[in-house]
Amino acid sequence: MQAIIVHGGAWDIPAELHEDHVKGCSKALDLGLDRLKHGHGSLDAVETAVVSMEEDCTFDAGCGSFLNQVGEVEMDAMIMEGRGLHFGSVAAIRNIRHPIQIARKVMQDTKHCMLVGDGAMHFARSIGAEIVPSHELVSPRELQRWRVLQDQKDYNQSSAFETIEKRPMGTVGAVAIDDFGDISVATSTGGTPNKMQGRVGDSPLVGCGTYADNETAGVSATGFGESLMKVCIARNVCEEIRRDRSAQDAARFSIEYLERRVGGRGGVIVLDRRGELSWAFNTPRMAIGHIDRFGKKSVGVRDRQE
Ligand code: GLY
Repeated sequence: MQAIIVHGGAWDIPAELHEDHVKGCSKALDLGLDRLKHGHGSLDAVETAVVSMEEDCTFDAGCGSFLNQVGEVEMDAMIMEGRGLHFGSVAAIRNIRHPIQIARKVMQDTKHCMLVGDGAMHFARSIGAEIVPSHELVSPRELQRWRVLQDQKDYNQSSAFETIEKRPMGTVGAVAIDDFGDISVATSTGGTPNKMQGRVGDSPLVGCGTYADNETAGVSATGFGESLMKVCIARNVCEEIRRDRSAQDAARFSIEYLERRVGGRGGVIVLDRRGELSWAFNTPRMAIGHIDRFGKKSVGVRDRQE
């Protein structure tokens, strides 16, 4: 069985950005599926899909990352496989073209699960990762946003956006299942605009923004990390599936729980062990693309009521 689902963030996503989101999700899906079709496992598929989205400055990942309070890009990424529950992650990493590739190497080439700070950079250098000057990861769009937000210490309270829903949240993620029934998940993000230096979100934290378990499902989340991590949303979806909820019910239940318990906003994509694809979000829109186990492809910026 082969199937893949990707997301490019859950927020208001204005109409003028829809085409770019659809194109970016579509390309990531095609590249990911191509890996599966050529005999690669689901880990390769999700890594490839996320690398493609880190290269696309539409999204809050890689070159499109939001800037922190001091105008720097600090990124988080995690990759996980559902057979042995192995994962690798990096947090607050700088000057790296593809954080998801470092996360995978942490998983495969070290005895650890997560690297941060100077140690993560040292490791990235030691494996010959592509290291780029800071300015190559600062997009003109994000520089402009940073200038607007510069005086606002707390993005969550920011008056620069009319409502909570207007806050951009463009984290990217992918979940895939391969012919062996192995489920893998990858998530990558530049975090939230104007975040404090050293702030880490949900994406690289196991069970929060990312989780994979062949016994249940793979889940990648997007949205306001400080809320998502409080309810460990990715693991929560998996455990609801273990309790015999469908992927759709589990996703909806977990987003409702996020909202009820901590007032959180965001979305999840889910691919369960039977190959069922699903998602749920409580923001106005979410960019989602998938290719199901029958090869049917669908990509769109979906409205909340869909
Ligand atoms: N969900 C991404 C973040 O809050 O960092």
